[in-house]
Amino acid sequence: MRDSLLIKAAFSEKTERPPVWMMRQAGRFMPQYWEIKNKYSFLEMCKTPELAADVTMLPVDLLGIDAAILFSDILVTGEAMGGDLSFTQNIGPKFANPVRTQKDIDNLNTDCISELQYVADAIKVIQQRLKGSIPLIGFAGAPFTVMSYLVEGGSSKDFKLTKLMLHNEPEMAHQLLSKIATVTADYLNLQIAAGVNAVQIFDSWAQALAWDDYKEFSHRYIAEIISKLNRKDIPVISFCKGSSVFAPLMAEAKPDVISIDWNVDLLDIKKRLPQGIAVQGNLDPHILYADKKVIKERIYRLFDRMKGENGFIFNLGHGIMPDIPFDNVKYAVEVIKEYKY
Ligand code: CP3
Repeated sequence: MRDSLLIKAAFSEKTERPPVWMMRQAGRFMPQYWEIKNKYSFLEMCKTPELAADVTMLPVDLLGIDAAILFSDILVTGEAMGGDLSFTQNIGPKFANPVRTQKDIDNLNTDCISELQYVADAIKVIQQRLKGSIPLIGFAGAPFTVMSYLVEGGSSKDFKLTKLMLHNEPEMAHQLLSKIATVTADYLNLQIAAGVNAVQIFDSWAQALAWDDYKEFSHRYIAEIISKLNRKDIPVISFCKGSSVFAPLMAEAKPDVISIDWNVDLLDIKKRLPQGIAVQGNLDPHILYADKKVIKERIYRLFDRMKGENGFIFNLGHGIMPDIPFDNVKYAVEVIKEYKY
């Protein structure tokens, strides 16, 4: 695995072409996902290793991408800590017992890694199926993003309650973030021990934060997690929406790769980062709704820009939307693999 395109690019080594994978590749844009989803609930799929492996393998078999990503969710850490988690179609995730008071925080359990054994089991099944062909990426949510779901009780547009806790009750917020960070580091180490080849930390909603708040309530915990990982030969990818602003700070947490949103020129931001930090990104996922001609042009534009750079992993700036045509995603992967370097 150390010689795969993804791992070499993640360690900023020369590759014959940039590797391609896409956030949310194991999901709803594939008709084959729905064949499984129509029979089982989302959490059943996550918790049944054979089913999690079936979904993980769909984009590997159907798209020919260069890395698999574990089928799971960032909110399983919150559930393991005591959150009453459910997923409802068209509504999304819900924690029925939101964490809003000191007592709620005290009640959260950090000694809960055994609750996540099903993830380790899924990783083992997936690796048996991958047979060393491509690397498997494990992942977890960053403390701030997971906190937002625990505090709000689900998805939120403005993160009002979460930001109120940061601003009015910073000590409580730190206790909560610290508990999530402890579990997240243990959880990623569990995934590494079970056999993942890289890990990605998703801080999807960091862009809601002001610079100082990002530094105090998000960055600091990501740095703590990364410092605790058993990362020999396992690259760490740090993703956030807002990375076009936060990337120089994200680099201080010492990830191997920073996943960049689409608001910034990828080469410009790479040049502003310390040597040896690779970039991942950064096509606007909406391009995949467009005509094939446009998809090809935009991929070529990005690749022409990054030509000759080591440490470039193709991805989208955020996840694939569920209604993006499968055929367009397949076409994008073909275009990327055919590009001449
Ligand atoms: O990338 C992959 O394909 C691997 C699997 C994966 C899922 N969720 C499966 C999923 C990953 C990496 C995630 C991460 C995740 N989960 C994030 C961070 C990534 C991002 O996009 O920013 C976040 C914020 C969540 C929380 C979450 N899970 C939400 C908000 C929802 C529902 C709404 C939505 O539009 O995604 C989920 C459910 C979920 N997670 C589904 C899948 C395939 C859909 C479940 C279904 O079939 O209904």
